[in-house]
Amino acid sequence: MNIRPSRYRDFPGIKEIFAVAFTEEYQRREVDIVRRIEKIRAVYPVVKLLSCFPNPYQHLFTVHVAEEDGRIAGLVQMSPRNHYGTRWHIDNIAVHPDFRGKGVAQALLQSVFEYYSQRGGLRYTLEVDASNQPAIKLYEKTGFRRYSTLYYYKLAPKQLAKFRDKDSLTLPPHVRPRVASDRDALWELYEETIPSYIRLVEERSPSDFSMTPVQLALEQVKKSTKRSEALHFVVEDPHRRCLVASIDLYAQHRALPHVVQFILHPAYGDMAEQLLTYALHQAAQISINPVLIGSFESQRAKRDAIQALGFKKVTSDFLMVRDNAETILLPQTAPAEKAKDGFFNPVTLNKHPGS
Ligand SMILES: CC(C)(COP(=O)(O)OP(=O)(O)OC[C@H]1O[C@@H](n2cnc3c(N)ncnc32)[C@H](O)[C@@H]1OP(=O)(O)O)[C@@H](O)C(=O)NCCC(=O)NCCS
Repeated sequence: MNIRPSRYRDFPGIKEIFAVAFTEEYQRREVDIVRRIEKIRAVYPVVKLLSCFPNPYQHLFTVHVAEEDGRIAGLVQMSPRNHYGTRWHIDNIAVHPDFRGKGVAQALLQSVFEYYSQRGGLRYTLEVDASNQPAIKLYEKTGFRRYSTLYYYKLAPKQLAKFRDKDSLTLPPHVRPRVASDRDALWELYEETIPSYIRLVEERSPSDFSMTPVQLALEQVKKSTKRSEALHFVVEDPHRRCLVASIDLYAQHRALPHVVQFILHPAYGDMAEQLLTYALHQAAQISINPVLIGSFESQRAKRDAIQALGFKKVTSDFLMVRDNAETILLPQTAPAEKAKDGFFNPVTLNKHPGS
């Protein structure tokens, strides 16, 4: 069996595996996965070019395949989840039914652990449907542990339509569009809001809260071509001079769901419903599509508000984590630039001192 990064000629096999393994799962999130793969194939030279240098789309389609007798037996799709590329997320893994139960998935995972560990990967994460026993067993066998639970909710278009009416909306106080200089305040909000055990795994740094010029330009292009709009809001507490919430809304002009990302300081939990109502009102101005939102199990106020506004739970996923066993994180002393970010340099332990 040959495990390697995917090529253009692998697309028929890749599409077949995605169709067999993921159609149902993605449908629950209102995504036509086969169509998405076809679209990536149509622009593959551009995707390949973008994969060669750092940019927001560098890992749009980072797939490794297992090839057996000229057939694509399985695939794994990965993406980095932090600025420094120390945390890699397994977006998808699947094996063609003809090849299941023969160790293909296990071999694919071992191969990508090796590949990305050589490129600075320190930690691997994934989300798996809590009812997917074969996959959970596979992950446990390859060193992942269950870490937390994530809930995903969907609001039906009919429900979203109710948020269109401006008269019924009380504008939350101190809401304003996010600006580039909010980066450090957003980092502080994140540090105070997300429990430390989740932050430890997410391995984010202040750089992850920057809006790069490339990102902003791409959002403008999408807006001008009427594909989607990205709206970024923050909420300030003017007395304490800090941010208490951030809302990122990725709203679609097309037949795709809107996505809301929402961070709210637990001390301001009472504002959850009002802020989400505001976000839904904004989404409803753009188009009446389904809306998706996720929440960790610890985010009680957010979940209560989500349910009160008519969202229905679509999945409960386990967040699973696997550390690169040969590395630990130690506080660094230099260089100053990274220390400012609160980021720790990886230190590789020598398994055989003196060898
Ligand atoms: C999950 C999946 C990727 C496993 O692929 P595979 O190549 O058959 O798995 P492997 O042969 O490498 O199995 C490795 C280990 O996983 C576990 N496992 C795999 N399939 C299993 C099953 N049907 N039931 C229970 N455990 C299973 C076992 O622990 C197995 O080790 P063992 O054979 O020594 O007992 C495959 O079933 C699949 O493509 N499913 C649909 C897509 C999917 O659910 N992907 C995960 C989304 S998060």
